[in-house]
Amino acid sequence: MSGEISYTWRDPITDEELADLVRSHGGRAEAGWWDKAREHSLGWVGARAGDGVLVGFVNVAWDGADHAFLIDTKTRGSYQRRGIATAVVRLAAARARAAGCEWLHVDFEPHLRGFYFEACGFRSTEAGLIHLPSLA
Ligand SMILES: CC(C)(COP(=O)(O)OP(=O)(O)OC[C@H]1O[C@@H](n2cnc3c(N)ncnc32)[C@H](O)[C@@H]1OP(=O)(O)O)[C@@H](O)C(=O)NCCC(=O)NCCS
Repeated sequence: MSGEISYTWRDPITDEELADLVRSHGGRAEAGWWDKAREHSLGWVGARAGDGVLVGFVNVAWDGADHAFLIDTKTRGSYQRRGIATAVVRLAAARARAAGCEWLHVDFEPHLRGFYFEACGFRSTEAGLIHLPSLA
């Protein structure tokens, strides 16, 4: 379904490319964000169209041992609903496993339950969250 899309692990992606991808789906891009985040990452998956344009992305953070965390799954607005994010997450899971991780975590807004549970194969678990700016 994803045609000529190619998927890579840890291939270079520039800060500008990621900002453009974020804007493409209506997100608010922050210049310099990816340059800061990259060095803490286990790895990332990039999906590129035949012309080289970045159309999909996910970052994999980790604890240096057996827990990996998916962050910032994104598909270019005009390329959504073609299975790209599903393929991106599948490759990220395979590479996290190959790196020796045992568990892959993710959290998400309720409307993406079908994407993460049905399309990507995650299951429900107990998790917790604190909104830090709201702390007294
Ligand atoms: C969420 C997102 C990454 C999905 O990317 P995608 O490449 O379109 O996803 P896929 O084509 O692999 O979707 C597979 C299935 O997941 C579900 N799904 C995908 N996007 C969905 C959405 N926005 N709402 C509800 N279900 C969705 C559908 O069941 C879909 O299958 P279908 O197209 O046959 O109905 C993309 O919509 C996106 O970049 N959104 C903006 C950023 C964002 O919210 N990221 C999530 C951070 S947790």
